[in-house]
Amino acid sequence: MKPVTLQTLRDLKQRGERFSCLTCYDASFAAAMERAEVEVILIGDSLGMVVQGHGSTLPVTNQDMAYHTAAVARANKTALIMADLPFMSYATLPDALANAAELVRAGAHLVKLEGGAWLAETVTQLARGGIPACVHMGLTPQSVNVFGGYRVQGRSEQAAEQLLADARAVADAGAALLLLECVPTSLARRVHEEISIPVIGIGAGLDCDGQVLVLHDMLGVHSGKTARFVKNFLQAGDGSIEGAFRQFVAEVKDGRYPAPEHAFE
Ligand code: KIV
Repeated sequence: MKPVTLQTLRDLKQRGERFSCLTCYDASFAAAMERAEVEVILIGDSLGMVVQGHGSTLPVTNQDMAYHTAAVARANKTALIMADLPFMSYATLPDALANAAELVRAGAHLVKLEGGAWLAETVTQLARGGIPACVHMGLTPQSVNVFGGYRVQGRSEQAAEQLLADARAVADAGAALLLLECVPTSLARRVHEEISIPVIGIGAGLDCDGQVLVLHDMLGVHSGKTARFVKNFLQAGDGSIEGAFRQFVAEVKDGRYPAPEHAFE
């Protein structure tokens, strides 16, 4: 596979072809994802939960993110590498620029931030500085204490309109990608129809340009309740880890995943 860039994702979107994204936190899994031709790798702050054992993503620091981003980037030279800016690391513009620069120096090609229209100025300044941004909307885990739990977002007409307005604002500000987590399929479809940048979904139904899953979830290595949108690809594939990645890529591309039972209405 040739190195994946943002232009690759735009071209895929233009042709109506879907792309795959998985979270990854270390070199061995990153190398396996390269062999399986996963197009986008997210070094997610979910590492706070699945790697560090915390109950949320809130304790994760930018230093943690840079450490894991560097490990992934050393081992995978073809995927587009996206790294999360963790909780409160982009609350001010100077913090956002400095922390994003640290992640790019560690090997990220773009950064992901959680929020809405209030991020517009940050997104513009990052892009001016040479750092593309993905804006994560819907269920944004860094705001778990504001939401009062991990719940599907955008269910009311008002909430859906707000999310659409936020998506327009950050796209106009120069966001490179959107990521929608746990929103009704119909809302993700509206965002996908109205916004021209590629949209990645997780628990957002089939009408997105890309799909992402957390590595440990898709391998069935998780404790506690499994979210509705999770599918075990270790079981669906040939039983190997690389096979699970290949199965995920194939099912995302041909539209088998996510099936209606993985989505919210
Ligand atoms: O941190 C993460 O893994 C994420 C995914 C859930 C999209 O943001």
